[in-house]
Amino acid sequence: MLKVENLAISFPVKAGLFSKRRHIKAVRGVSLTIQKGQIFGLVGESGCGKSTLAQAVIGMQRPTQGQVFFKGDDLYALSTPAFRAARQNMQMVFQDPFSALNPRFDVQRIIAEPMHIRGGFSGEQMEGRVLELLNLVGLSPEDRHRYPSDFSGGQRQRIGIARAISLHPELLILDEPVSALDVSVHAQIMNLLMDLHEELGLTYLFISHNLADVKDISHSVGVMYLGSFMEYGPTAQVFAQPLHPYTHSLLAAVLTLDQQKEPVITRGDIPSPIEVPPGCSFASRCPLAQPKCQVETPVLLEYRPGQLAACHYPVI
Ligand SMILES: Nc1ncnc2c1ncn2[C@@H]1O[C@H](COP(=O)(O)OP(=O)(O)OP(=O)(O)O)[C@@H](O)[C@H]1O
Ligand SMILES: [Mg+2]
Repeated sequence: MLKVENLAISFPVKAGLFSKRRHIKAVRGVSLTIQKGQIFGLVGESGCGKSTLAQAVIGMQRPTQGQVFFKGDDLYALSTPAFRAARQNMQMVFQDPFSALNPRFDVQRIIAEPMHIRGGFSGEQMEGRVLELLNLVGLSPEDRHRYPSDFSGGQRQRIGIARAISLHPELLILDEPVSALDVSVHAQIMNLLMDLHEELGLTYLFISHNLADVKDISHSVGVMYLGSFMEYGPTAQVFAQPLHPYTHSLLAAVLTLDQQKEPVITRGDIPSPIEVPPGCSFASRCPLAQPKCQVETPVLLEYRPGQLAACHYPVI
């Protein structure tokens, strides 16, 4: 369904008149594959490049380097009509259900918006589809005449999900879809997403900084740090036997929170994406770093079937 190859995205940073132009390296050489019907979990701390990668996948951010193949086609090499068709076949659900919906439109209009844009639907067809979608996401038929401000966060996220699936897309990009929700609503929306995945045979790119969510929902996982993958592989395997010290520290933080102990916090700050240090980008915070890690950049190597890590000293 989706294949991303050696993707890099950088943004120019405003520089002084005489200083050299610099770049934020938001994504650095990411490759991943998602088979039809699978859920790929993308985890990493804030600012590591998850949303930037998602925007490149969905055709909103042309990569500086590398390619995105959607159903076998090189997305950024498609003709305009083929690109539009591909874009409609993949939809995005955003983190913030408050800003993602137009406050001046009622729910009927919001959910029907992608159908308006595509065109070719009668008023009756759109109304019928909106009723179907409301039912699918657990809202009532009367809700279609209400406005976003009338709904709670979880209900707004349901509206956003209904809109995203209105044109029967095959791939959904879920960019932190539950991060802004409180605990009980969080679980309800996770369940809805899992039900829809099952019922509609969808493929997901599921982005989260919450490892527990990714563990529950995904088949494979990519652990991102400073724009590149530190570890990649089958979710069950990565969680049971993580290879990379970074994955270990993320997992340790989750476990200790569960057990009400002192959280294990990785020392030091994340380096700037403008001045990515040489060697391993995680070396400055890694408890296992050796001199080699400061100079030589590790590449992703397969240490167990399907499980890769970019580390000179993986935990095996
Ligand atoms: N349009 C842009 N122009 C300049 N820099 C940008 C732009 N978009 C993102 N960045 C930078 O790229 C890096 C990655 O940002 P991104 O939003 O992809 O991270 P993220 O992993 O989604 O973070 P979060 O978990 O907070 O959503 C950050 O340093 C960010 O400041
Ligand atoms: Mg983001």
